[in-house]
Amino acid sequence: MTMKKSLFVFGLCLLSVLCFAQTKAELPQLGKDKVEAVIAAMTQEEKVYMLMGLGDANWANPPSGEKTVIISGSSGRTWNIPRLGITAAVVSDGPAGLRIDVHPGDPDFFYCTAFPTATALASTWNTGLVETVGKAMGNEVLEHGVDVLLAPAINIHRNPLCGRNFEYYSEDPLIAGKMGAAMIRGLQSNGVGTSLKHFVANNIETNRTSINAVVSQRALREIYLRGFEIAVKEGQPWTVMSSYNRLNGFYTSENRDLITTVLRDEWGFKGIVMSDWWGGADAVAQMNAGNDLLMPGCAQREELLNALKNKTIDEKIIDRNVARILNFIQQTPRFKGYTYSGHPDLKAHAQVSRCAADECMVLLKNEYNTLPLKGVKTVALFGKTSYRFIAGGTGSGEVNYEKAISIKESFTDGGYQIAKPLDVLYTHFIDTLLANSKEENKKQLVDFHAELPLSKRWIESQVKGSDIAVITIGRNAGEGWDRSVVDFSLTAVEKNLIKDVSAAYHAVGKKVVVILNVGGVISTADWRDDPDAILLTWQTGQEGGRSLVDILKGTVNPSGKLPMSFPLTYADVPSAKIFPGEPKENPVNAPYEEGFYVGYRYYDTFKVPTAYEFGYGLSYTQFRYSDLRLSSNDFSDKMTVTFTVKNIGKVAGKEAAQLYLSAPQAEMEKPEQELKAFAKTNLLKPGESQQLSFTLDERLLASFRSGISAWVADKGIYEVRVGASSKDIRLKASFGVPQAILVEKDHNVLYPNRVFKELSVSKNLEP
Ligand code: BGC
Repeated sequence: MTMKKSLFVFGLCLLSVLCFAQTKAELPQLGKDKVEAVIAAMTQEEKVYMLMGLGDANWANPPSGEKTVIISGSSGRTWNIPRLGITAAVVSDGPAGLRIDVHPGDPDFFYCTAFPTATALASTWNTGLVETVGKAMGNEVLEHGVDVLLAPAINIHRNPLCGRNFEYYSEDPLIAGKMGAAMIRGLQSNGVGTSLKHFVANNIETNRTSINAVVSQRALREIYLRGFEIAVKEGQPWTVMSSYNRLNGFYTSENRDLITTVLRDEWGFKGIVMSDWWGGADAVAQMNAGNDLLMPGCAQREELLNALKNKTIDEKIIDRNVARILNFIQQTPRFKGYTYSGHPDLKAHAQVSRCAADECMVLLKNEYNTLPLKGVKTVALFGKTSYRFIAGGTGSGEVNYEKAISIKESFTDGGYQIAKPLDVLYTHFIDTLLANSKEENKKQLVDFHAELPLSKRWIESQVKGSDIAVITIGRNAGEGWDRSVVDFSLTAVEKNLIKDVSAAYHAVGKKVVVILNVGGVISTADWRDDPDAILLTWQTGQEGGRSLVDILKGTVNPSGKLPMSFPLTYADVPSAKIFPGEPKENPVNAPYEEGFYVGYRYYDTFKVPTAYEFGYGLSYTQFRYSDLRLSSNDFSDKMTVTFTVKNIGKVAGKEAAQLYLSAPQAEMEKPEQELKAFAKTNLLKPGESQQLSFTLDERLLASFRSGISAWVADKGIYEVRVGASSKDIRLKASFGVPQAILVEKDHNVLYPNRVFKELSVSKNLEP
């Protein structure tokens, strides 16, 4: 410890002793007295201590002398000041379930449940189900003594290579926002908090702590901010986490326009903003911007104390941010004295995880009704991930669950035989890999290891002993790095495996099913003709293996649909040329040149064919859409749209119905169509129907006109398109907007700090 630090610590101790000499009863107490009175009784040091966490969990001796860790494996904590009745708050990851350390054998500690990843959950198109998952997840947060879950993460899937896409929901802001809001409501119904993250434009992991996302005001408002706006307004998270990246020149955590003007003033956010771990560079700028809490904290204490002493920061700003933190603390279970059990009902939560996984999976192909399986007794299981299911991604989105059921075990539990030679081969392959690696590398070793090559002759020798072949292709990714185009594509070994297995099984009239146990979008167009069926399972948590066998068996009818587009090739992705940024090898700037043309907004407008379009997914039954009705021919302030979905097939099923709007191109350029509402039907029995009804308000019609910083609904004819996917439109109707509507005027903020060319279909309209 330096001399300066020792003196500082000594001073602090002396101060605490003096403060404690005063009886506690004379001092204002948080929860009993006004927050202002508590702040007035705080020293400058205490104020500064409140504005940040206690540092890295691995830092054994933080200057305050307190333990950095309250709950082992959690991500951080805030300080407590007993003399003023201020308790600590513990925060921990993450989006697919609580991430804390587990201590096998310790009767006080249990594992947490691994739920499906956010991408998988979005594929349910079922906000009610996502809320139920949130409820179960939040109960684990509460019962493990954590106050805030660092979730949900709702950044847009701008490019399939972003390493963290699995933690995020969709390429569409409406889905991201609605799913995020549902997750927040579910989690917070337990009396614990959430942290909506990463605010905003954190769509690249390469150089994530410095990269500058250069985004036009319109793309920002309509795509990147929109989901956050919906989640904040409809979910009311206790906290928001600013992102690592810069946005239009400034770190998001130092950007007042972003976290005060937009988040608080325009959207009415009342909670606290915390930084991402070590995010940003200038603590004073962060405080001024309204980034109240610095995580994991500690390092910036001297900087802020000096700023207070030198008056380079106004103490009123510090007081404002402390007040917000104290208001937040009062909501926490720890402050309220909740005695956590350490024993959430893991059995019940496993069931929730499984029910969710049932609806996450997307049936991409099912030729000749290959699925559900008929007359199958013995299954030949190819691919390493058939024997080790990938439950979720890596990094802070990971969960320490006890066990993820494998596809092999699920088949066996489901009453099927597994072809023995393959089982022996892959088990030996995996065991050898694990035996030869260090303990700390074992966890995801198999996920990232190359697939086992098999000779044609070996494959052919398996055909006789099995009724069907199931091949699993696995992918994993995570925080801190982006995927490569190589990872997006299937390797030669994987493609040959699919080709050779298909040829061998088809030669004798047997079927082949491919399972995609992946976290994000991969290439499908170059191999999808080979197998008979393809089931995209995503990374569906610890119970995903069971759900997939239920779907293959037909005890569960698949109802998942894609919350993003699957391009024909990576080169077709609108941001492919510019991702991750400039210069390519070590990017500094990431110009979002595609503008608002993200995902289907691009493919549909520019007529670029996809492998599987946004909203796509098959079922074992069929649905008929009918009776589309609009509440009037012209729009005044609202428009109600109703229609009926009927199950006209032979088995019960759920349908994710989608409503798109195609807006007139009067003053502003518009994408071909945009999703404006969606709903999942109940489980409809054959012959059963359900009427769905959506209300479109002015804001849903409007686009953001940067020139006047306002949301405007252009005049003209709007086409309502209702259907089963963005391409499978079943019903259409139109209504008129007689006069342009100025829906909302916003602040003229967050403009790009560099000139860049944005994609546009027309030179004449305002982009
Ligand atoms: C991640 C956050 C996470 C935090 C705490 C950061 O590296 O970006 O998403 O919540 O760590 O673990």
